Amino acid sequence: MKGIVLAGGKGSRLHPLTQSVSKQLLPIYDKPMIYYPVSTLIAAGIRDILIISTPQDLPLFRRLLGDGSQWGCSFSFAEQAKPNGLAEAFLIGETFIDKQPVTLILGDNLFHGAQELKNISSIISQKGAHIFAYQVKEPQRYGVVEFDQNNKVIGIEEKPAAPKSSFVVPGIYVYDQSVVERAKALQPSSRGELEITDLNKQYLAEGLLNISPLESGAAWLDTGTIESLMEASQYVQAIQSRQGILVGAPEVAALKSGAITREEFKVLAAQADNSAYGKAIQSIAKR
Ligand code: TTP
Repeated sequence: MKGIVLAGGKGSRLHPLTQSVSKQLLPIYDKPMIYYPVSTLIAAGIRDILIISTPQDLPLFRRLLGDGSQWGCSFSFAEQAKPNGLAEAFLIGETFIDKQPVTLILGDNLFHGAQELKNISSIISQKGAHIFAYQVKEPQRYGVVEFDQNNKVIGIEEKPAAPKSSFVVPGIYVYDQSVVERAKALQPSSRGELEITDLNKQYLAEGLLNISPLESGAAWLDTGTIESLMEASQYVQAIQSRQGILVGAPEVAALKSGAITREEFKVLAAQADNSAYGKAIQSIAKR
């Protein structure tokens, strides 16, 4: 299974924090933001992962993540010259995708406890696109999705002034192999971007857009504003210190999903340094 992490963008809402460093390298509590979406893909059984970022930031992601083999994965890297929109990921990733189904996750999205995301391996064999839905208090800030009791999508609207539902589409999307050809047919929107919503609307028009609501107990946090960045850190700190676990640790996701063996995990723990993160890995290895 193929996965893409889209980790470019302007990060303008976080200036000056993101003036010289990419948003997805900023900390969410004890680890870089990109660890969370990478862990989500690994936990879903995805091993072949393309990281897309800006030409300036890509070398930093390469240095942070390496080739993925330490976590039983294979990481590739590609540049997005300008933030031309989320759907451009499928044009940049065409060779990587290689006519196979693909899951796209946004580099600033944090999921925790969402069981539905563990089922991506069964979703991926279905024809069409699969999106998820999450209930929020302020849907007008997001892509709002309306669906019926049988999980049939009725419509999606980007940042509507009068939302028709309180469910929004979080930043993880599963597509069949037709996604690249569909992305090629997209025209830039009025804000000059290739919109993921337009891509999803294409699938919807053909009756090929499926949806799974995430359980209300699952957490989905996006971290694009300073308030949400702080809240995400506090959320991770609260869960980790209460439960003695690590949220969003790729090596733990790799162990749990079978990408690495317990022996390989112990080797990573032996190499871990004296940081809080390293000590947590060592303590998990002893359990
Ligand atoms: P956004 O949060 O919509 O945009 P941004 O990160 O540029 O932030 P701001 O609005 O503060 O300027 O992007 C969502 C995610 O997608 C984020 O991880 C950045 C990424 N992204 C790209 O990698 N390329 C793009 O062309 C766009 C639009 C976003």
